[in-house]
Amino acid sequence: TLQAVSAKKGSPFMFGSTYDTYDSNASFMSNVFSTFFNHVVAENGCKWDATEPSRGTSDLTECKAVQSFASSHGASFRGHNTFWHAQTPSWLPGGISASDLVNNVIPQHVQQEIQGMGSSVSSWDVVNEVVGDGVSNGMSALQCVQNKKAWPTQTSDNSNTALVTDLSFIHSAFSTALKYAGSNTRLAINDYNTGAQDAKTACVFAVLADINANAGVPYNRLAVGFQSHVSSTGFASKAALVANFAKLANLGAAALITELDISIPSSSSGNERLQAAIWGDYLDACLYASNCHEFINWDSRDDMSWLGTSNAGTLFDSNGNPKPAAYEVAARLKRY
Ligand code: G3I
Repeated sequence: TLQAVSAKKGSPFMFGSTYDTYDSNASFMSNVFSTFFNHVVAENGCKWDATEPSRGTSDLTECKAVQSFASSHGASFRGHNTFWHAQTPSWLPGGISASDLVNNVIPQHVQQEIQGMGSSVSSWDVVNEVVGDGVSNGMSALQCVQNKKAWPTQTSDNSNTALVTDLSFIHSAFSTALKYAGSNTRLAINDYNTGAQDAKTACVFAVLADINANAGVPYNRLAVGFQSHVSSTGFASKAALVANFAKLANLGAAALITELDISIPSSSSGNERLQAAIWGDYLDACLYASNCHEFINWDSRDDMSWLGTSNAGTLFDSNGNPKPAAYEVAARLKRY
């Protein structure tokens, strides 16, 4: 089905989920990536703590292991992530100065990871979650980012003295990524609570425009990753997703669904059917957009979800059986 969808879209449609080599349910994971998904992202294996254990020492073992799992299952691979304030290695932030961060630490990490992982990467989350949660409409890109109360926007103790007083740390990451990524690899700014037509999404678009203007990255290399950790009581409408994807398409940028899970209050059939309807709408918004080619679900079964089993936020239940949402996405893919 995914091959038929790709043919219709005129480019590969990448529908996937997360994998780490230490994941449980090995036979389920091998089977689901051979029969249901065709795209893989490392849930943790390509993050800074896993890939640069000490400053300047590159260790891509786990990241490459996930990439080879993808290729051994006929799946493509995307990179998550080269910069995030969380899951940083123990030597960060360690009193690093802003200029050292911008001029040395970031370019070195981004280069060694992107160059080391090679060009068969559909997209990289170059920066993850750099926009604050207390933003408002009309904020500048700088205001949007300085609203983030996390290193490096704030010093490691989150004191008010912002460590970084401009967006050069983002420019450094993206200009380095542009230099070392494969020419077909999209470079994404990835964030949660985006997708609706609200202040946080407006901020992500403002930072995207800043990256284009000040890091010299053309829009046809850029992407916005809409993480989409949502719930049956809080999610972006299909209309909002369609409008936001179209806005990116007009710029030449790509839209990615990067971490979809949909928490439900309980696994009652009513909740599971609502979950399926929302899943279908997110998928349709991507399928029917000219610039959406990657759709990643975050964790593939409830007992493996970062949300915990009780939120029942994934496509397969804790016994590895498909839930209504799995049937819904299969039907929408067939119907496309
Ligand atoms: O690797 C250690 C292991 O050595 C140790 O024994 C174990 C127990 O302490 O912890 C292991 O590290 C855990 C890691 O996942 C790998 O399993 C961390 O404690 C745990 O916090 C970490 O959670 C991950 C979380 O990001 C960290 O923020 C989740 O698996 C992962 O799903 C989640 O993913 C993030 C995306 O990267 C970005 N968007 C939000 C999303 C959900 O938070």
